[in-house]
Amino acid sequence: MKVLVTGGLGFIGSHTVVELQKEGYQVVIIDNLSNSSLEVLQGIVSITGIMPVFEKLDLKDKAKVQEFFKQHQDIHGVIHFAASKAVGESVQNPLMYYENNINTLVYVLQELEKLPTANFIFSSSCTVYGQAKAMPITENAPIQFAESPYGNTKQIGEEIIQDTCKVNSNIQAISLRYFNPIGAHESTKIGELPIGVPQNLIPYIMQTGAGIREQLSVYGDDYPTTDGTCIRDYIHVVDVAKAHVIALKRLLENKNTSNNETFNLGTGTGSSVLEVIQAFEKVANNKLNYKIVNRRPGDVISAYADTSKANEVLGWKAQYSLEEAVLSAWKWQNSLNSL
Ligand code: UD1
Repeated sequence: MKVLVTGGLGFIGSHTVVELQKEGYQVVIIDNLSNSSLEVLQGIVSITGIMPVFEKLDLKDKAKVQEFFKQHQDIHGVIHFAASKAVGESVQNPLMYYENNINTLVYVLQELEKLPTANFIFSSSCTVYGQAKAMPITENAPIQFAESPYGNTKQIGEEIIQDTCKVNSNIQAISLRYFNPIGAHESTKIGELPIGVPQNLIPYIMQTGAGIREQLSVYGDDYPTTDGTCIRDYIHVVDVAKAHVIALKRLLENKNTSNNETFNLGTGTGSSVLEVIQAFEKVANNKLNYKIVNRRPGDVISAYADTSKANEVLGWKAQYSLEEAVLSAWKWQNSLNSL
């Protein structure tokens, strides 16, 4: 079975390609290399021994997207990761985010609309819930006004899929709402490659631990949480990747109960920023230099998943603990340092 993975050289995309290949799927990757590197292909090959088909293609180019689907009429499923994901950048450059994340989605769906059957997995985010009223967050929690253009692209993306599926019974879709994916493949051949100064907690901790950054700023310790720092649901990227393969299989085997389903992907456990720092210090046996600073605008206090729908319906459950995920990120960081 042939699966198209857009953004397949990115962080979550590359780990998903590995899991797909392990399950025997033939993978075709489209990536425009805007936030990824060709070396990731080598990383994939060194884990699985299989070189995926790769096309450098920008999905914003509608004619090229049409051409691609004309040439690949035997695609059984599409996993659509290709998108920009930096919250701050999206505030600075909203139109770039709407073009990158919305136009590309529309162009891909327009091609799927033409096929007799199409299976589609969409990368969504827990950001659609904003600050949810109740924890853990179920899929039925209300969608809240988006805090950033990036978050808005995920909400609009889900709405576009919903509207499209209503009138196209040939398209079967699943949106996966990720909480905070972290970590790296145990082989240390692929992992997260932030460009410039990392904006997210785990890469910043790793680079501080490695001496690349001097000090981590912890954004606020006066939140109404147990230790005053924000709570998130950090999930190992390999667990997230495996969920994609399971979701795709559900569609391929016609086990879905509607043609537009949504699942949370998290561990179900919330961890504070200070708990993540403690986990790092334990697995790295290394004191982390950090200081408490002001809150970061736009941060929600707490977000962790109710995973029962994914557990029961998909038969998927996160396997890795926070410490295991943080250790894998640390090993990855060390492998980068030794290059
Ligand atoms: C954000 C987005 C999420 C997106 C993810 C990856 C929102 C609400 N969330 O997640 O949709 O998928 O980025 O791009 O838009 N922190 C520090 N110091 C740092 C960095 C982070 O203390 O240097 C804290 C933050 O305040 C937060 C936690 O660490 O409490 C996690 O932050 P981060 O890794 O940036 O992820 P989110 O903001 O949860």
